[in-house]
Amino acid sequence: MLIQYIIGPAGSGKTTLIKSLVEYLQEYNQEISVVTINLDPGCRTLPYTPDIDIQDYVTVDAVMEKTGLGPNGAMIAATDLMVNYVEDLKYEINQYNDPEIILVDTPGQMELFSFRNSGPMIANALGFGSVKRGIIFTYDSTMCIHPNGFISTLLLAASVQFRFANLSQINLLTKKDLIHKEKLENILKWVDDEYELASATENLEHGMLRELTLSLGRTFREFGAISELLPISAKYGEGIEDVWGAIQRVVNDDTSPY
Ligand code: GTP
Repeated sequence: MLIQYIIGPAGSGKTTLIKSLVEYLQEYNQEISVVTINLDPGCRTLPYTPDIDIQDYVTVDAVMEKTGLGPNGAMIAATDLMVNYVEDLKYEINQYNDPEIILVDTPGQMELFSFRNSGPMIANALGFGSVKRGIIFTYDSTMCIHPNGFISTLLLAASVQFRFANLSQINLLTKKDLIHKEKLENILKWVDDEYELASATENLEHGMLRELTLSLGRTFREFGAISELLPISAKYGEGIEDVWGAIQRVVNDDTSPY
């Protein structure tokens, strides 16, 4: 069993990716059993029906009503409260007879799940027995068309890698249909070649910002944080087979941690 946590900035396409992946598996890999979990206590509607939903246990609305907190405070409290329901989530997962893949949708405010304690605690608690765990990080391509936006997203992705230390991370460039082909190719070149990123910063950034961009790019490359970035359009089902291929590599990787 592999549990894949889908993490990324608000609106970067996490939920749409889950919908698209489930549809892809239903169409091409019906023998694969997949379970979806919603871990966002604040979402109003989802484009798919999760098999397991944290909102059966805790919701932002209920926390607001009970505590009088505003939406932001209630979102923080609700995310922290999710830890109390780990055993219920485990119980529900066990009802599915050892599914091969579990896709977990995480809150849009990624810092609540990733940088407070609840996310890593839940990820650890659900990693029981021989369950493998991994992260899929969603880079929103519309935020990455300029080098500084690309580096900022890279910083977020690297922070998530630190917080969920040792978990494999698949990096996706989402919504590729929304940017010009030329811009998409530029972003992919920045991943592959540090000189491309350096020359892009020459035109766009100045002074300290340029130095910072270059130095961060270099550091991330040295530590392997800039690795493969798979372009997809979950909305139009493009690149989803590559995502599935990447997930299978994690499943088959014996060095990937449990
Ligand atoms: P939060 O949970 O609120 O952070 O959002 P999310 O990361 O789950 O993103 P979601 O899947 O809800 O997508 C946000 C918006 O982007 C929605 O309007 C989607 O329809 C749109 N979107 C997602 N993926 C794509 C894509 O591949 N192409 C296009 N054009 N739009 C997309």
